[in-house]
Amino acid sequence: MISEKIIVALDISDDKKLDEVLEAFKGKDVIFKVGLQLFNAKGPDIIDRLKENGNRVFLDLKLFDIPNTITEAAKEMAKRSVDFFTVHLLNGRRSLTFLKDGLEEFCGKEKLDVPEIVGVTVLTSFNEEEFHLISGGTSIKKMVEILAVLGYQAGIRSFVSSPREISLIKGILPDVKLITPGIRPKENLDIKDDQKRVLTPGEAIELGADYLVIGRPIIKSDDMLGAYEKIVKEIEERKEKK
Ligand code: C5P
Repeated sequence: MISEKIIVALDISDDKKLDEVLEAFKGKDVIFKVGLQLFNAKGPDIIDRLKENGNRVFLDLKLFDIPNTITEAAKEMAKRSVDFFTVHLLNGRRSLTFLKDGLEEFCGKEKLDVPEIVGVTVLTSFNEEEFHLISGGTSIKKMVEILAVLGYQAGIRSFVSSPREISLIKGILPDVKLITPGIRPKENLDIKDDQKRVLTPGEAIELGADYLVIGRPIIKSDDMLGAYEKIVKEIEERKEKK
């Protein structure tokens, strides 16, 4: 099902807006992204609320700490039935392996579903010049490749990627799942907000994205469900044309 492919980013902190969004999507099996903003505004109880509503939760807190700390944090997420969560691949292979093994063992013992670990390569807010200051001259592309392979070796099979890195990652690791932001529907492609390079949902899926993270084009719409359904239709039409 195509709507499986859309993750709605709940980048909000306001109670009234949150209620409106949840009301608009009531009864729909939507995947919601909870990021740093909403998590800090509402606390971890927001996860329980979304799960009680029947939604799936993509918890995007981009964990980056010592192996024990990220693993214990991940166990808390599993207890709340988070479906996917993000970690920086810069944690390193040993730490990521420790996380994956520790989480699987814990979930097995507690009879919990194991959340999907999603690896973050290089934040797309970096430009090449700024990135070289911390990488000692290694390019962003090269580092994305290094980190994706390292994550794969640690058993991670899902990654966040910008649309422009889809073919690079899928070229080396064809069996991974990619979650891609920076998407704007065809009809409002000119409203980029702060996104610099955007693709339409159809284009991103065609390039090989498995999930699209879409926030403002849906959340800021007067008809949120309508905007969501239009995107689903756009993807379906694009697929039919192929
Ligand atoms: O509102 P918009 O559709 O631009 O939201 C995209 C979502 O994806 C936001 O939650 C944003 O934090 C996230 N994101 C992004 N660009 C990245 C990584 C994540 O826009 N490179």
